[in-house]
Amino acid sequence: DLPERVTIVEVGPRDGLQNEKEAIPTSTKVELIDRLGKAGLNVIEATSFVSPKWVPQLADSAEVLQLIPKRPHIRYPVLTPNLKGLQRAIAAGAQEVAIFAAASETFSQRNINCSIAESLKRFEEVVAAAKEGQVAVRGYVSCAVGCPYEGPVGPTAAADVAARLFGLGCYEVSMGDTTGVGTPATVAAMFKECADAIPVKALAAHMHDTYGQGCSNVLTALQMGISTIDSSIAGLGGCPYSPGASGNVATEDVVYLLSGFGIKHGVDMDALVDTSLEAASGYNIITSIQSSIKSVSS
Ligand code: HMG
Ligand code: MG
Repeated sequence: DLPERVTIVEVGPRDGLQNEKEAIPTSTKVELIDRLGKAGLNVIEATSFVSPKWVPQLADSAEVLQLIPKRPHIRYPVLTPNLKGLQRAIAAGAQEVAIFAAASETFSQRNINCSIAESLKRFEEVVAAAKEGQVAVRGYVSCAVGCPYEGPVGPTAAADVAARLFGLGCYEVSMGDTTGVGTPATVAAMFKECADAIPVKALAAHMHDTYGQGCSNVLTALQMGISTIDSSIAGLGGCPYSPGASGNVATEDVVYLLSGFGIKHGVDMDALVDTSLEAASGYNIITSIQSSIKSVSS
């Protein structure tokens, strides 16, 4: 059965912008986030407190988080790879963070410079400190169906990491098809294994759209009862440590899909499309986003 209501986790300001080479002004990031909130998105992943040497684009994360005009009922989670990131995030006022592990060893090394086991150990202390600061923790599993370095990833590998993150205390675990290689067949097999390991209510789908499978993979997740979907305005997105990956499934496409089934999502499509078009046309939102749109659509 399809869910009656879906929570969309807008990841454009984080996943979308992290891959941009050209520096984007802090004010532009803040404006983008605020527009997304005005369009009705209740969960907006705002930025990352990762090493600025690894992701220079998001070096202004503290400023971004502090400058967002906080709207009631909107959550602004941020990525934190380690204790240092968590402490910086809390100092900037974060009330929710996301930790990110991988189902592939090589990707873990390339993305966060440690093995999967080391990362889980690191996250144990991050979650403990977050709990102490009353900060909610979401988890990600990257390469849940495939890895840019190792190829296909089996459902058990993905479900094992999901279970570990849930066990650490993540209230939700988002399964990432980092490079968008998944199809409904592999995504269904992965989610089936995950749903055997942790409650379906605690699962989210984070699909990238490299091969045009994003919405089909989202529908697959919905059909399995998953009611939290990550997406990105204008289909922005990509991981600098995942060669060949393109953007996330576009938020406007997900909203259109949900509306078609009469599934509640709370998003104003017109406001969303305006924001997306402005991001695409460079009107108010700068040209580096434009170039990303071009690369996503080319
Ligand atoms: P490292 O180099 O092993 O870290 O990186 P280190 O502990 O050795 O520290 C090196 C330097 O970085 C030190 O500075 C630290 O202080 C500093 P120095 O002494 O040289 O001046 N440092 C930090 N500075 C600020 N904030 C921090 C921080 N940590 C260390 N948090 C590390 C390890 C994890 C930090 C690094 O690999 C990193 O930041 N990686 C993040 C990469 C990333 O952001 N990738 C994209 C996000 S994941 C993704 O997109 C997938 C997802 O969308 C889901 C999907 O699609 O599947 C989530
Ligand atoms: Mg991603």
